Amino acid sequence: MAHIRIERYDDGIAELTIDRPEALNALNQQVLEELASTLAGLADDPDLRCLIITGAGRAFVAGADIAAMAEMTQEEAEAFSRLGSSTFTAVEQLPVPVIAAVNGYALGGGCELALACDFRYASEKARFGQPEVGLGIIPGFGGTQRLPRLIGAGPARELIYTGEMIGADRAKEIGMVNAVFPTEELLEQTRAAARKIAAKGPLAVRAAKEAIRRGLELELEQGCQLESRIFGRIFGPQQKEGMQAFLEKRAPKFQ
Ligand code: COA
Repeated sequence: MAHIRIERYDDGIAELTIDRPEALNALNQQVLEELASTLAGLADDPDLRCLIITGAGRAFVAGADIAAMAEMTQEEAEAFSRLGSSTFTAVEQLPVPVIAAVNGYALGGGCELALACDFRYASEKARFGQPEVGLGIIPGFGGTQRLPRLIGAGPARELIYTGEMIGADRAKEIGMVNAVFPTEELLEQTRAAARKIAAKGPLAVRAAKEAIRRGLELELEQGCQLESRIFGRIFGPQQKEGMQAFLEKRAPKFQ
């Protein structure tokens, strides 16, 4: 892989870095294809418990590659949007939680990549925005859909119509990010959260992600029915160990 680095830690945590710093990690066809194939490998890994996504250098991802898009036909543009969209859906549908560690610019496709993650932490230097309308296009990797679902239609419309960049504090205020950390602490704080997740019942965490992700697409009553089915399904060896450990006043050992 030329532009995706992946680091594995013993506790089931993986860290994926978009690594094309000379273009502020802009997403061209190759980067998207490498990302998609990396995610496909991670999705099949039963030992994975949490994924962190971050960017190399001073950007998270500064967007889809503008130079690559400049001369696209309508058909090519639609295909490019489908590639980005399906890749980010694979992030959203990864069986384990994905945390975005937003270290710098998260613009356009970069903002959309962060939105496809389960939640986002930002460094004080992070900048978010959907600047597409300034280029005469619209967000094409899920931004018009995920941003209003996450922060509400009003704030999402404002960001998308004005194309304005916002800083980390404003992003926290409107619910785009869960926490803002000093730049040098971002990765360590993100890893600490990942370790907390990785220490819990692995099947339970996966089941919780599935219930939340699929439930967000449903009416409340259907969502609660889905939750009951998944709640029943999760009863098994890991649940027995988790509950036995509580009753015996010891730490659980999840296999
Ligand atoms: N696509 C292609 N190349 C990009 C890029 C993108 N989305 N974003 C940055 N780059 C490239 C620049 O062209 C430049 O390349 P060069 O050194 O060969 O000229 C390099 O990355 C560094 O960017 P530069 O613009 O010089 O850095 P800066 O600090 O002055 O500005 C930004 C940073 C993020 C404000 C600016 O790069 C920018 O506005 N990028 C585009 C953001 C955008 O519109 N994204 C949505 C695309 S749909």
